[in-house]
Amino acid sequence: TTHSYFGQTLITWYGRHKRALPWRDTENPYFIWLSEVILQQTRVAQGLPYYQRFVETYPTVQDLAAAPQDEVLRLWQGLGYYSRARNMHHTAQLVVAQYGGIFPDNYAELIKLKGVGSYTAAAIASFAFKEQVAVLDGNVFRVLARVFGITDDIAAPASRKVFQKLADTLVPADEPDTFNQAIMEFGAIQCIPVMPDCMFCPLQQTCFAFNHGMVQELPVKSKA
Ligand code: ADE
Repeated sequence: TTHSYFGQTLITWYGRHKRALPWRDTENPYFIWLSEVILQQTRVAQGLPYYQRFVETYPTVQDLAAAPQDEVLRLWQGLGYYSRARNMHHTAQLVVAQYGGIFPDNYAELIKLKGVGSYTAAAIASFAFKEQVAVLDGNVFRVLARVFGITDDIAAPASRKVFQKLADTLVPADEPDTFNQAIMEFGAIQCIPVMPDCMFCPLQQTCFAFNHGMVQELPVKSKA
């Protein structure tokens, strides 16, 4: 089917092109959570040294929970959006107090945690626990809008359902983790916002936007 072709093509592409990033070599939900919180409003190159420092300074969620807040904020210095660090510290303490230091192992529980939204819950659930749930970020919106010709405005909250529904049908049961990493990486380095190199794209033949001359028109994003 076109859906399994899409996933398989992305996963094969990912095997050849992925960047080596430390949070991709772990199934530890605590490390994955740290990386996703750091990367929420931060570029990979900027977030990397922070991730390394947090993992070294606080190798377990218990270590982070026990740290003084001012120390955590000092380690965060330079990343901005300090509520991320405060929520992170709070959530570490809650995981220790309410979950015995064991991270919840599914989307429904993860999303209840402070600072964990639908993107982060899906990332942890799929990367650490292989749950078949799709991650949706700006990169994923762009890839799906172009390949499948979705014209819904990605800035409109109602569009989220359209993309989530499609994305959830695309995630393969046997490797949801690899698929999710693959589609995000594909959006980050191949299906880029401006002037993507479509001549060198494994999805060119089946891409709606390419076939209709709409690569620069998709995704639709209102300016408001
Ligand atoms: N940005 C946010 N999450 C990421 C991840 N898991 N890998 C690369 N970049 C990311």
